[in-house]
Amino acid sequence: MGAPVEHYPQLAYVDHLPSGSRLWSQHYLLFLEGVTAVFDGFTALDISAIGVEHNELRVIIGPNGAGKTTFCDIVTGKTEPATGQVYFDGENITEVSEAEIFLRGIGRKFQTPTVFDSLTTYQNMELALPGNQKVWPNLFAKERPEERDRIFDILKRVKLDDDAHTEARFLSHGQRQWLAISVLILSRPKLLLVDEPAAGLTDAETELTAELLLELKKEHTLIVIEHDMDFVRHLDARVTVLNEGKMMAEGSMADVQKDEAVIEAYLGR
Ligand SMILES: Nc1ncnc2c1ncn2[C@@H]1O[C@H](COP(=O)(O)OP(=O)(O)OP(=O)(O)O)[C@@H](O)[C@H]1O
Ligand SMILES: [Mg+2]
Repeated sequence: MGAPVEHYPQLAYVDHLPSGSRLWSQHYLLFLEGVTAVFDGFTALDISAIGVEHNELRVIIGPNGAGKTTFCDIVTGKTEPATGQVYFDGENITEVSEAEIFLRGIGRKFQTPTVFDSLTTYQNMELALPGNQKVWPNLFAKERPEERDRIFDILKRVKLDDDAHTEARFLSHGQRQWLAISVLILSRPKLLLVDEPAAGLTDAETELTAELLLELKKEHTLIVIEHDMDFVRHLDARVTVLNEGKMMAEGSMADVQKDEAVIEAYLGR
């Protein structure tokens, strides 16, 4: 399929412009260039260039250890890249802190969703309302009616409205994933990173998750990290294949499935 850089013709003009140029940002919400992540001398991620367009739903797939979660860690500022630059929403965010990156509009659902077990679905949402994290007693402050409506709108979308007052520990694995995504949506992120939303779900839950992601695509730019090719077929998105930290292929699911190197990486394990 050729070098990934061929998929980014815009790079030609990005390259020769002074860094900080806003031209690329007309095209891409997120753009990474020459990014590597190195742990104790081991290169876990090595990306020459990747761009995610405004309002795109991008899927990143790859076998275990391919660097998918490391990619999320870099984009969200959890891990500092050893080399390269990360641009988001017209700014270079390479040196920006994790907390500030969140405030600028990158939300993330971790591989293991973080919800508070002893709080109800609704309380988990309430706690995530912008401003409520700073002072925990705010949990007991009365939210405004429009906030309540907004919480229920989101819960309806993920079919959790009937379980609004159920403690999170009684939710199914799929429902916990949807709650974690719902909590994220509350902060109105421009970019949502969703790490393995379908892992361990039943077929019915997997289908609902795909529907939810397609629904979210209408209002957000999304990067969905997945392991499972079957799930990705439902999403009809541009797919980037990572393997051993490198971009191996990019294109439609139909295209990457035909790629010999991709077949080898998945089946040759
Ligand atoms: N903090 C770290 N310290 C040392 N090695 C790390 C660290 N984070 C990731 N790695 C290594 O980097 C490689 C990529 O890991 P990563 O978690 O990004 O893979 P992944 O594609 O998310 O895999 P999975 O499908 O299992 O979730 C692995 O070999 C992993 O052991
Ligand atoms: Mg991972």
